[in-house]
Amino acid sequence: MDSRRHFLGKVASGLAGTLAAVPAQVLGSNERIRVGLIGFGDRGVELLNHVRSCTNTEVTAVCDIYSKRLERAKGLVPAAAVYSDYRRLLDDKSIDAVIIATPPHLHAEHFCGALGSGRHVYQEKTMAFTLAHAKRMRTAFQNDGAKHVVQIGHQSCSFGQMRDAQQFLSDSRRMGKITAIVMHMFRNTPRNKPQWSRPALMTPEVNAENVLWKSFLGEAPVRPFDPQRFIHWRLYRDYSGGNVYEGMSQQLGFWYQALGLAIPKTAAMHGGTYLWKDGREVPDTMSVSLEQPEEVLISWSSGFGNNHLGVTEHVLGDNGSLARGNQIRYAPQKMNRPDGTEMVGQSTHVPHVHMQNFCDSIRTGKSPSCPFETGFRVSIACRMAVNSFVLGRTVRWDPGKEEIV
Ligand SMILES: NC(=O)c1ccc[n+]([C@@H]2O[C@H](COP(=O)([O-])OP(=O)(O)OC[C@H]3O[C@@H](n4cnc5c(N)ncnc54)[C@H](O)[C@@H]3O)[C@@H](O)[C@H]2O)c1
Repeated sequence: MDSRRHFLGKVASGLAGTLAAVPAQVLGSNERIRVGLIGFGDRGVELLNHVRSCTNTEVTAVCDIYSKRLERAKGLVPAAAVYSDYRRLLDDKSIDAVIIATPPHLHAEHFCGALGSGRHVYQEKTMAFTLAHAKRMRTAFQNDGAKHVVQIGHQSCSFGQMRDAQQFLSDSRRMGKITAIVMHMFRNTPRNKPQWSRPALMTPEVNAENVLWKSFLGEAPVRPFDPQRFIHWRLYRDYSGGNVYEGMSQQLGFWYQALGLAIPKTAAMHGGTYLWKDGREVPDTMSVSLEQPEEVLISWSSGFGNNHLGVTEHVLGDNGSLARGNQIRYAPQKMNRPDGTEMVGQSTHVPHVHMQNFCDSIRTGKSPSCPFETGFRVSIACRMAVNSFVLGRTVRWDPGKEEIV
């Protein structure tokens, strides 16, 4: 009972904290938000469209280090200035907010630069690539002193599902003691199309003249120009955490925010590259166990060779269960809650809802729906899982030293 109170108390205080933080620099409701976008690849283009769906908001500058992507930007946003060095974009004092949609190993550099220059930041997930990056980003966040809004790109935190989940969780009797979260993410592709392959992008134009390779590498190990690594960065450990960073982080993001979960005590990950023997360094089949300090065991399994199980999420308590699919569904455990009834959430969302929430936060000063702290904890959980896989053993979080051991 004590630990349940403690756990649900944390959920409640997490929500209170969300409402309490008010950035000191608030734009007037009629003022136009001028946005600079760093990283104009697949996600960058999607986020451009999200910005366009938000009223009185405009992308006025784009930065990318591949000339083809800048040509695309000139075609799609002719009025925007284009840059191949993000520092030149940040020199433009008329920019209020920066969206970062570069590969994960570059997030810390671009985040610290953007926030340090006094901009509101929308940071794509997974927020931090390494623990050292997470800490560096936290220092930048603390130095800003909450003067600017930081939204992390776990967009489901802005979905109506979050309100439904919080509503169902608001009466602690519905769930009882939550002990497990079970999640899957299974996909399949035709035999000649490996998951995450982008053959259409592998053109002769991906060459050392058109790509600023040193800027792509950032702090990653130096190596000669390699078009395969540039286009297929998701397959390589120097730039990617594989589907733990691409998929698990999104599913964790929702429940870490809904339940106010802390950094896990331990992480264990198993798996391998069982199907796509195309030189990728990240596994295509994997399972992760995260032992949470709240006495909740999170199990996530994922594979790229069969989509039968699809994407599922279940939160299990001794009084009831929550399932997240198209809607949030609550089902009572009849043996402990004989009078409990099933409930289905009704909330929907539009694709740009997370960007809208970012813009609303800039204007109102309210904390965004996926605040820095959530991105920070999710990043560390993901790094713990990947470290466990690479080391071939369980890893532990040392809260005193703030180290993965
Ligand atoms: N929230 C979501 O649903 C979602 C979906 C897809 C991707 N993402 C995230 O968005 C990010 C980008 O993914 P993507 O699929 O668009 O990748 P991508 O390869 O299509 O695009 C990345 C872009 O960054 C550019 N870039 C690389 N180094 C740069 C640098 N130093 N300065 C400026 N630009 C640089 C590349 O040239 C490329 O255009 C990743 O973090 C990914 O996890 C999030």
